[in-house]
Amino acid sequence: MLETAKDRLIVALDVSSVVAAETLVDRLGDAVSFYKIGYQLAYAGGFPFAEVLVRSGKKVFLDLKLHDIGNTVAKGVESVAKLGATFLTVHAYPQTMKAAVEARGNGLKILAVTVLTSYDDNDLAEAGYAGNVGDLVLKRAAQARDIGVDGLVCSAEEAARVRPVAGSLSLVTPGIRPAGADAGDQKRIMTPARAIAAGTDYLVVGRPIVEAPDPKKAAQAIVAEIAAAGK
Ligand code: C5P
Repeated sequence: MLETAKDRLIVALDVSSVVAAETLVDRLGDAVSFYKIGYQLAYAGGFPFAEVLVRSGKKVFLDLKLHDIGNTVAKGVESVAKLGATFLTVHAYPQTMKAAVEARGNGLKILAVTVLTSYDDNDLAEAGYAGNVGDLVLKRAAQARDIGVDGLVCSAEEAARVRPVAGSLSLVTPGIRPAGADAGDQKRIMTPARAIAAGTDYLVVGRPIVEAPDPKKAAQAIVAEIAAAGK
C-alpha cells in the first residue's frame, strides 16, 4: 500500500447540486484529495464537475454501479475513462466485469460491488437466488479477482473474510464512523482504525464529514486516525 493516509480517505459528495459540492470541496481544501460522486450528484451536473475536480488535481470515484449488456457497459466505461476518473463501480456480474475491465484503458480502475449491503438472505431469495449473502459475496469476489477487476466495495466486516479470496485487490469500504459519530442508516459500521486493521485500503466517508460543523477538521481527524492505524 503506497498511498498516503490522506489518499486513502474518499469523501462522498452526497449533495444535491454542483454548487453545494463546490462549497464543500472549497471548505475541505487540501485536507481531502479523493471524492466520490454517486447517483445524486452525477445526475445533477456531476459529470462536468468530475472533470473540474480532476483538472484541479483531485481524484474522483464515480459510483455508478453499472450493469447492462457487455457492449453497452464497454461503451459507458470508455466514456467514463475520458472524464479522468480513478475508480468506477460496476455490479459483480461476470459479463459486466469482463466488459468493464477490457474497456477501462490505463487510468481508470474498476471496482465491483459484490452484493448490495442492503440485501439479506430473504432479499436474495425473493430476487430468485438460491444460497446466502455470505457465500455469494465470496463467489463474486473470486470471480472479480479471476476476471482482473481492480478492487471490491465491501463493508469493513466483510473485508477480513473477503481479503483471502481477493488477494491484492483494493478493498473500498463505506459505513465508516469515527467513535461517537451518529450511525445514520448504516447498520454495519466501524471506526477508521478498525476498518484499516480489518484490511481495508480506502475508506468512503459521507455524513460524518459532509454534515460536520467543521468538515475540514472532521476530515483531518479521520486522516490522522488512518495514519495512526498504519498498514
Ligand atoms: O454518509 P455515509 O458515510 O454513510 O456515506 C457512505 C457512502 O457510501 C454513501 O455515498 C453510500 O451511498 C455509499 N455506500 C454505502 N454502502 C454501500 C455502498 C455504497 O454506504 N454498500
